Amino acid sequence: MSSLDHFSQNLNHQPSLGASLPPLKIRKTTVEVPIIQGGMGIGLSTYTLAGNVAKEGGLGVLSSAALDRIVSARKGKKFNARDAAAQDVRDAKEIAGGKPIGMNIMVAVINQYGDSVLGSMDGGVDVIISGAGLPLALPEIALSHPRADDVALVPIASSGRALDIICRRWSRTGRLPDAVVVEGPLAGGHIAWKTLAEAEDPKNKLESLLEEVYPIAKKWGNFPVIAAGGIYSHQDILNSIDGGCQGVQMGTRFLATFESGANDEYKQFLVESTPEDIELASGPGSPCGMLFRVIKKSPFYQQALLRERAPKCDKGYLLNKGFCPSKYENEKTFCICNGLLASIDLNNQNEKRLYTVGENAYKINRIMSVRELMHELQGFPAIEVKAYV
Ligand SMILES: Cc1cc2nc3c(=O)[nH]c(=O)nc-3n(C[C@H](O)[C@H](O)[C@H](O)COP(=O)(O)O)c2cc1C
Repeated sequence: MSSLDHFSQNLNHQPSLGASLPPLKIRKTTVEVPIIQGGMGIGLSTYTLAGNVAKEGGLGVLSSAALDRIVSARKGKKFNARDAAAQDVRDAKEIAGGKPIGMNIMVAVINQYGDSVLGSMDGGVDVIISGAGLPLALPEIALSHPRADDVALVPIASSGRALDIICRRWSRTGRLPDAVVVEGPLAGGHIAWKTLAEAEDPKNKLESLLEEVYPIAKKWGNFPVIAAGGIYSHQDILNSIDGGCQGVQMGTRFLATFESGANDEYKQFLVESTPEDIELASGPGSPCGMLFRVIKKSPFYQQALLRERAPKCDKGYLLNKGFCPSKYENEKTFCICNGLLASIDLNNQNEKRLYTVGENAYKINRIMSVRELMHELQGFPAIEVKAYV
């Protein structure tokens, strides 16, 4: 055994190392380290990423977006949305050694919403996290499943008002949120606001949103509050917990790991990016009307800015009031489904690639393993990368 192997083995047997951050309890699920790896669609928070995060004590979260295509391609046979969600959970759980796995399900992917919820529950999911719209119907769907009592239901909200509306509606079913993720304007992917002025308004800063949300969460049952959007370091996590949160959700840091589904160009852009390379796409922007943060030099976005991509949408995952506007025009919107599918090489129509990141992506200067990242985020001394790669 080399000395590095020996070091790595020792690392495996140091339970006291995790003591600095308190565990996160969500309904029946205990997450040893209060770090949720946020769901990242399409095909970025893969079963490999989520499984490894869970193995390291965090909550690994899959994304249900386009799982029918992703799992069918991976397994070489056709899966529908429900079976694909179940399979992805099983595959992640196998890596995780049975530790908790979550599924992120976007309300905006209207046509597959119910199947994604039920399929995840079939597969043994522990936590469902749902946003990109108000997840008003989530408990009604989940309660029709025999595992309903075992699965935690967690909405993503970006204001106290949104959480209050969700709780009022959910209370009619007898089920309240088991936790809430409060996502601020620095997050990757879609953010809750429609205009740059709203996204930059100090009253919408994560800290302000949390202050709004704490009393609402308390009023409806004192469930855990999880902060998301721009959280980067161990110190950021400590600050969030000191400020009153029970955990954090992080996306961009996990995107920049060996285990994520991001391709080599995506990871290279992450490492090279400066603050000027990251932009909130609004005109043209996402067809669902919310701002969407991109790496400016994503080939698909560059093409969209020049209006060189003809209007077309043949995928239909992300719908706005039942249809995708980018099917008919390219002035205000671009077809996000095609750009994101191209980024994971699941688009056979010569579409260019579209890359989304959080505002703090420019801080990333190298790609690391999930194990090293989880170690760093818990505030442990730096470890030798080669010990476990
Ligand atoms: C590449 C990428 C894709 C994302 N996709 C989704 C998604 O499909 N659904 C969702 O609810 N959130 C999505 N998010 C948001 C994350 O789950 C997380 O809340 C957010 O990234 C936290 O901010 P951070 O990136 O600054 O850590 C995505 C984030 C990134 C970076």
